[in-house]
Amino acid sequence: MKEFLQDKIFQLISEAADEQQQECYVIGGFVRDIFLKRPSKDIDVVVVGSGIELAQRVAEKLGKRANLSIFKNFGTAQVKLKDLEVEFVGARKESYQRESRNPIVEDGTLEDDQNRRDFTINALALCLNKDRFGELVDPFGGVEDLKNFVIRTPLNPDITFSDDPLRMMRGIRFSAQLGFFLETNTFEAIARNKERIEIISKERIADELNKIMMSRKPSVGFILLEKTGLLELIFPEVLALKGAETKDGVGHKDNFYHTLAVLDGLCEHTDNLWLRWSALLHDIGKPRTKRYDPRLGWTFHNHNFVGEKMIPEIFRRMKLPTNEKMKYVQKMVTLHMRPIVLSEEEVTDSAIRRLLFDAGDDIDDLMKLCEADITSKNPDKVKRFKSNFQLVRKKLKEIEEKDRVRNFQPPISGQEIMDTFNLPACSTVGEIKMRIKDAILDGIIPNEYEAAKTYMLEIASEFNLTIS
Ligand code: CTP
Repeated sequence: MKEFLQDKIFQLISEAADEQQQECYVIGGFVRDIFLKRPSKDIDVVVVGSGIELAQRVAEKLGKRANLSIFKNFGTAQVKLKDLEVEFVGARKESYQRESRNPIVEDGTLEDDQNRRDFTINALALCLNKDRFGELVDPFGGVEDLKNFVIRTPLNPDITFSDDPLRMMRGIRFSAQLGFFLETNTFEAIARNKERIEIISKERIADELNKIMMSRKPSVGFILLEKTGLLELIFPEVLALKGAETKDGVGHKDNFYHTLAVLDGLCEHTDNLWLRWSALLHDIGKPRTKRYDPRLGWTFHNHNFVGEKMIPEIFRRMKLPTNEKMKYVQKMVTLHMRPIVLSEEEVTDSAIRRLLFDAGDDIDDLMKLCEADITSKNPDKVKRFKSNFQLVRKKLKEIEEKDRVRNFQPPISGQEIMDTFNLPACSTVGEIKMRIKDAILDGIIPNEYEAAKTYMLEIASEFNLTIS
């Protein structure tokens, strides 16, 4: 496998290791990604002996070009060279305590080190010493598993997952990312050990969830999370979407699978993580708003508003950012039904203006979400929706070009209203502003200063105001 170690850095590490008489290997994700043909700039090197000493030697050889950082407490060191990051660590034998992810670490052999890794595909090692340069060490059949698209732990999975429960999330994430299958024993061990996820920090769980969200087909990850029982523990709100009830012979769709179909569909059109989160959460308010009415069947009134209100609590608990990214997701969830409703009704200019005003620069994202939300199995229905959507898109473009309401700024400021009518800051000022805004959005007046001013003077009498 020498051909995959062409980069000069490997030659240099090889020389340094031989000079120090240390056995050393490239290991983990970098080797896995060679087989998967995924370029990687993060190189992990495991040394039988001191990783720090080898890193120091390598850094000496590289001179000023390299940047060395030593983490004494962890016994690791990093050498940075342009965009390459090489992590050096001594081979370890680890045993874990039940209540903590922090292992008791002892020096070990390569075999010990490979034993303590998460999956067979991540335990592959390539020797760097000159006489064995490029030799593959694959004690658990990792290459075979790569060929068969299998995620499997090297040891008894109960031990691997109990040692570090984050690996349960990692296994599911690799399945989603790489399109691999969880081997049966590995899958069953996740189900058995799921409660151990509780010792993992929310941040690390969120990292893995985000990686699942960014995979080509996130549904693979969410279905595994559900089937192993992890979803109930980390994201009960999404699990609550599952199930389809029937009353008087009337059923409703299973909102869990519907949500996943929307998410997968949307992922074909965007890499925007937060738009993907919006798809996952677009119907999150449905379980709380579900009602059965014998005349109307199943209803989910205001589920978009209820969903919007649930989001801050979810983001806080899951340690997701509670900043403008969360606000964006809230906005998408609140507005997610507006284009659909529009496309079902006659598309009026005023409704289009209001949608543009409410969505602002996020209108294109909102349209993508709404189109993905059409998951009906009825081809005629889908066709009708899609063609109406085209009409909505066309109108959005026309109206935006004509009226520029996408980034609407009221042409008359509150200050000008106060000066014109000699008013203090009060609710009347807000009401007048609102009337002007509505008049513009309803197409009564154009989005221009002069027209807005004339309109303001016209409606003054309704508020018993005179010009000062
Ligand atoms: N590893 C492990 N258990 C963990 C995390 C990591 O055994 N909980 C091991 C695996 O051998 C892994 C290597 O450490 O390949 C490097 O971990 P990391 O850089 O986090 O992951 P990668 O496998 O490189 O994959 P990715 O960068 O996609 O996370």
